[in-house]
Amino acid sequence: GNDLVVLGIETSCDDTAAAVVRSDGEILSQVVSSQADLLARYGGVAPKMAEEAHSQVIDQVVQQALDEANLTEIDLSAVAVTIGPGLSLCLRVGVQKARKIAGSFNLPIVGVHHMEGHALVARVLEKELQFPFLTLLISGGHNLLVLARDLGQYLQLGTTIDDAIGEAYDKTARWLGLDMRRGGPALEELAREGNADSVKFSVPMKQHKDCNFSYAGLKTQVRIAIASKSIDPETPISSASCKDRSARADIAASFQRVAVLHLEERCERAIEWALKIEPNIKFLVVSGGVASNQYVRTRLDHIVKEKGMQLVCPPPSLCTDNGVMIAWTGIEHFRKGRFDPPPPADEPEDAV
Ligand code: KG4
Ligand code: ZN
Repeated sequence: GNDLVVLGIETSCDDTAAAVVRSDGEILSQVVSSQADLLARYGGVAPKMAEEAHSQVIDQVVQQALDEANLTEIDLSAVAVTIGPGLSLCLRVGVQKARKIAGSFNLPIVGVHHMEGHALVARVLEKELQFPFLTLLISGGHNLLVLARDLGQYLQLGTTIDDAIGEAYDKTARWLGLDMRRGGPALEELAREGNADSVKFSVPMKQHKDCNFSYAGLKTQVRIAIASKSIDPETPISSASCKDRSARADIAASFQRVAVLHLEERCERAIEWALKIEPNIKFLVVSGGVASNQYVRTRLDHIVKEKGMQLVCPPPSLCTDNGVMIAWTGIEHFRKGRFDPPPPADEPEDAV
């Protein structure tokens, strides 16, 4: 149909998210329940704990998304849900919820790939963004350069051979004694106080003339720099002396400069590669949690403009994990007839 209303559910990692989106791109509601507090306390994602946290809030998050959209389940055209990649225990919470609703209200289900969601959500607000386009997806778990040739037709140009950039941000933030509930953004803020040329980190994979990434080596360089400046990660930045704070800010700024230089170099090359395959690409879409970083946006905007192209970055709330990207990608597939029929209404929960 023309006017679809789709509920999107996302539970692949540490956020429980739901949203209702219409096929004209209007976002009717968007709800995110974050496990950041839990993560900061335990220093990482423990699958069993994350699953429990999702289970505790999933009903409430979905209900709130419907309430804020002023809708009930019967108004929906379909339910979209993340089916991967992610922690399987966590994914299951979302999939079970989606199947329960779809079964009870006779709705089709659209299974969505999380990274496709990150890429396609850019099309909600940027109506000019047509296939084919190039996309850089940068988050805690992924670092991908993908040529999106058409819906469902993705050519991977590069990926990380070890860590993703978000992981490097998170670890660096922790070692600098920053608030782990918001490691990436806290590091971005601290970097503004520092001198980006003060610590000499080397740009990863200079000698590899491809589009792959590596952040494990940079993490090690940072750890060594922190030790050599006698910075104690156990001392929160709020209790650091003036001199100590400025040493931390210098590391933050220097790390960020090199981490993003690596992105810049890879994007430049990927644009050249992509233009050989699809000479008409006009857009680089940058999405995923790290794309909410203003320094990243500014630097990549520069590269893209030099190549005569345009940068598209979703607003920060649509860059980090959210339900809108899942609902929207569901809409795109549903329109092309790609969905599963409603599951049986009396399906037992553990059937999934
Ligand atoms: O896409 P996302 O919400 O979840 C994953 O799929 O991983 O991305 C989360 C990642 C985390 O590593 C977080 O530190 C990072 O995105 N991030 C940032 C910023 N905001 C979030 N990194 C750098 N600067 C930011 N402003
Ligand atoms: Zn993500």
